[in-house]
Amino acid sequence: MRTTVDSRALPQHVAIIMDGNGRWASKRLLPHNAGHRAGAQNLRKLSEEIERLGIKYLTVYALSTENWARPEKEVQGLIKLMHEYFQQYIDDSKKNDMKLTFIGDVSRFEPDLRQKIETLKTLTKEKKGLHVTLAINYGARDELARAARKLAEEGTYIDEETLTRTLDGFPTPDPDLLIRTGGEMRLSNFMLWQLAYAEMYFTDILWPDFGKKDLNAALEWFGGRARRFGGR
Ligand code: FPP
Repeated sequence: MRTTVDSRALPQHVAIIMDGNGRWASKRLLPHNAGHRAGAQNLRKLSEEIERLGIKYLTVYALSTENWARPEKEVQGLIKLMHEYFQQYIDDSKKNDMKLTFIGDVSRFEPDLRQKIETLKTLTKEKKGLHVTLAINYGARDELARAARKLAEEGTYIDEETLTRTLDGFPTPDPDLLIRTGGEMRLSNFMLWQLAYAEMYFTDILWPDFGKKDLNAALEWFGGRARRFGGR
């Protein structure tokens, strides 16, 4: 059995929609937030594996602009989890080589969380390991509208290049592979512009259960795709 993936066929940038936390918790008669907590732990573990494999960029959907409509207790739980998760990365940043950046409108968060975000960005700015981007209060339509508004206000001509340059994650290259766990086959307003040519991998596995061998299966599948970017 192969335990590593052929590096020639590795995606440079993997994006993940981490779905299925709630169902993972329900199956265990646990509250929804226990699923998010297990999901955050899995993200930590898998990002280490993704870095070990030599993939350069990972972007994950942690909180969407639509998620605010969920029960207050769940939203507060997710925010508390972000505090803990960010603090852990701040504490680990000396020994860790990962770079952390964010996409989404972070102005909606309380100043103490925004402070942690700024600290993390500053502390990891020069890191050369895996570049992890966390999408928080992120929606692709919101991102595109904000970028278009900014360009219009500046009086800059709007074309593919100027729009690309104004999106939140620039200059991170577009994802090559999108993985969505949890059985749904949709994009849910995630990176609609950047995923134009990504290969899409959908699996029924719930996010907290998505382990190294499942990642390996997704990467093997990616390695077998012929990417033509609209050409022959
Ligand atoms: C979808 O599962 C997942 C989310 C709305 C949030 C994803 C967040 C995490 C994995 C935690 C990461 C956290 C940090 C701090 C970076 P769902 O609740 O919709 O699952 P369901 O479809 O089974 O109900």
